[in-house]
Amino acid sequence: MIILSVETSCDETSVAITKNGKEVLSNAVLSQINIHQPYGGVVPEIASRAHIESMLYMFDEAIKKANITIKDIDLVAVTQGPGLIGSLLVGINAATTFAYVNQIPLMGVNHLLGHIYAAQIEGDMQFPLLTLLVSGGHTELLYVKDHLDIELLGTTLDDAVGEAYDKVARMLGLGYPGGPIVDKLAHQGQPIYDLPRPMLKDEPYNFSFSGLKSSVLNLVHNMKQRKENFKVEDVCASFQQAVVEVLVEKTKFAAEQLGVKQIIVAGGVAANKGLRKYMKENIPHIEILTPSIQYCTDQAAMIGIAAYYQYQKHGALKDYYLKGSASINFV
Ligand code: KG4
Ligand code: ZN
Repeated sequence: MIILSVETSCDETSVAITKNGKEVLSNAVLSQINIHQPYGGVVPEIASRAHIESMLYMFDEAIKKANITIKDIDLVAVTQGPGLIGSLLVGINAATTFAYVNQIPLMGVNHLLGHIYAAQIEGDMQFPLLTLLVSGGHTELLYVKDHLDIELLGTTLDDAVGEAYDKVARMLGLGYPGGPIVDKLAHQGQPIYDLPRPMLKDEPYNFSFSGLKSSVLNLVHNMKQRKENFKVEDVCASFQQAVVEVLVEKTKFAAEQLGVKQIIVAGGVAANKGLRKYMKENIPHIEILTPSIQYCTDQAAMIGIAAYYQYQKHGALKDYYLKGSASINFV
C-alpha cells in the first residue's frame, strides 16, 4: 500500500511517500526555521503563507524522489491536528484537493500519533508499550496497549519540555530553536549548578518544567548581577541534566508499574543526545525504540506510517470533507 502524506502543523512543509507502514520511499521536508529565526519563535501568519508558497513544490519533490506516479498512490493522509490552525489548513486543503482530483481515498491523522509511529520506521513495536512523547508543544506519557489503542497517562501542567529548552536558549541569547544548540553546548560543559528536579511526587505521570526554567533564569540573572564569570556550557549542562533525570525517572517508574515490553521515545526532543544516552543507561532491562534523528522532528513520513495502521483499523474517509483542529483528542 503506497501512501502520500502531508504534514504542515507548525513550521515544516513536508510531503512523503511511504509503503506498507514501514518503508520511506521519500520524505521531502522544507524547514521554515530561517524565516522565523529573527522573531525568536514561529509566527503563525508567516508560517501559513510560507506553507502555501512551497506546498506544490513539495508534492512534486516527494513523488519524483520516490520514483512513482500518481496512479500508484492508494491513500492520501494529512495531519489534521493538533497544531497551528492556519498552517494545518494549508496542508489539509492541498491534500484534499489532490485526493479529490485524482479520486484517491483521504484520511486525517493526529500529529501525535505520527510522532509515535515514527519509531516503527526503526523497529517493530512490541505491545504493550510506553511512549514518552516530548516535543515543542507536548510532554506526554502514553500507554499503548495495541495499534491505535492509546491511553494518556500524564502530561505537562505548564511548559512542554521543548518549549522550556527554547525559552532557556532565548534567555541565554542562543537563538531559535533552542533544543539542538542547548544539547550541543551541554556536552561541552559540566552540570555544576544545583537545579531542581520537579518530580511531582503525588502526580508521578505528570510533568512541570516552568519552575526549572525560572531557576535557570534566576541563576543566570544572579551571576550577572554579581558580575561572576560563568560558562554558558555549564548552565546548559546543568539544565539538561535536570530535564533528562526527570524524564527518565518518570518513564522508568511508569514502565515498571505497567510492565511494558518496550519504551518509545518520540517527538522533537527525542533527538536530544543526552536524553537518548541517559534513557538507555538507566533503563537497561526494557527495549528502548527511538526514531532516527531525522524522524524525531516534524516531517510527513511519520504521518504516512501512522496512516497505514489507522487505515487497517478504521478505513479511509467516506468523502473529501476534513476539518482542521488546533487541538484534537488523541486518536
Ligand atoms: O516535534 P517537533 O519538531 O515539533 C513539535 O511538534 O513541537 O519538536 C520541536 C521541538 C523544539 O522545541 C526544539 O527545540 C526541540 O524539539 N528539539 C530539541 C532537540 N532538537 C529539537 N530539544 C532538545 N534537544 C534536541 N537535540
Ligand atoms: Zn511535532
